Amino acid sequence: MSTMHQIKVKKVMKETDDCVSVSFDVPKALEPSFDYLPGQYLTLESEINGEKVRRSYSLCSAPHEKEWKVAVKQVPQGKFSTHANEVLKSGDTLSVMPPMGNFKLACSPDHSNHYVSFAAGSGITPMLSMIKEVMEVEPNSQFTLFYGNRNTESVIFREEIEGIKNRYLNRLSVHYVLSKERLMSEIFYGRIDEEKCRAYAKAFFNPTEVHSYYLCGPSQMIFTVRDTLKDLGVDESKINFELFSTDDLPTGEKPIAEIAEVDRGKMSAVKVTVDGISFDFDLAYDGEDVLDAALGYGADLPFACKGGVCCTCKAKLTKGEVVMDVNYTLEPDEIEAGYILTCQAHPRTESIEVDFDA
Ligand code: FES
Repeated sequence: MSTMHQIKVKKVMKETDDCVSVSFDVPKALEPSFDYLPGQYLTLESEINGEKVRRSYSLCSAPHEKEWKVAVKQVPQGKFSTHANEVLKSGDTLSVMPPMGNFKLACSPDHSNHYVSFAAGSGITPMLSMIKEVMEVEPNSQFTLFYGNRNTESVIFREEIEGIKNRYLNRLSVHYVLSKERLMSEIFYGRIDEEKCRAYAKAFFNPTEVHSYYLCGPSQMIFTVRDTLKDLGVDESKINFELFSTDDLPTGEKPIAEIAEVDRGKMSAVKVTVDGISFDFDLAYDGEDVLDAALGYGADLPFACKGGVCCTCKAKLTKGEVVMDVNYTLEPDEIEAGYILTCQAHPRTESIEVDFDA
């Protein structure tokens, strides 16, 4: 199981009015367990006003840079993001979980691929990592980025993106899409929607020839682009996406696990094992999820989003059956192997066993 490590903050840097980047001094001894692929995220925890607050943020640094850096955009009433933007400074210590996540791009010098990415706002962070790694490691690959923001000032990492673009003019194309500022062409004014996605496909890439797509930003943009690409003939397996959260999911995208009338109120004997220690408790089929229930019984379990998008709470179901409310991150082969998102799981047999060490 991934555990939290006490890691010193190396640098906190203002990137825009409401966004800072935070880099970490990962000790040499921990570097192997902090290896990552571009697209993956760190889970951070801090005690803020007496309350432990945990969030996950995509790494914007690239593996070849031997650096661990995330970007934290301030959200209204966001406890962690406000703390990071207003209080956090170099030399402070945060609890940090090693990099995780299924939204990733494994680079190889042999690849000769075209990657296309749609990002909005702080959705740029995993893309920046991917772009830097692809440019460095895959000399024959191309990357096309469509990046949505309000205006030029709110473009996070603009200078860095421009620097990379100038260095790799023939392989990296960057198209800014601004909703509150008119640029030269109408197709880059507004939000990234179906019409724009179709226009970009016509002008800048052949949908079925692109090797893979990477989408990160608000759910509305993600699902619109995903559906448009599918409509343009792109195989769904080529479309990878990372949701910020499930809070803004459109209706119909956030089902709750179904329960048969006869199962209502039934109880399951649950055993959760973590770090070799087992916790036994009873849980109603239509009660809270396995993660929250086990946390309530004192288990020290990994989690971040609690919304089925980050994968931090993944564990193996070694006995019985569960259903999940949502799953935006487990791959089919992980499900096949018995992995579940415990923050979304509810028992459907009279006993279940869940192993976080497997
Ligand atoms: S905590 Fe993020 S998917 Fe469960």
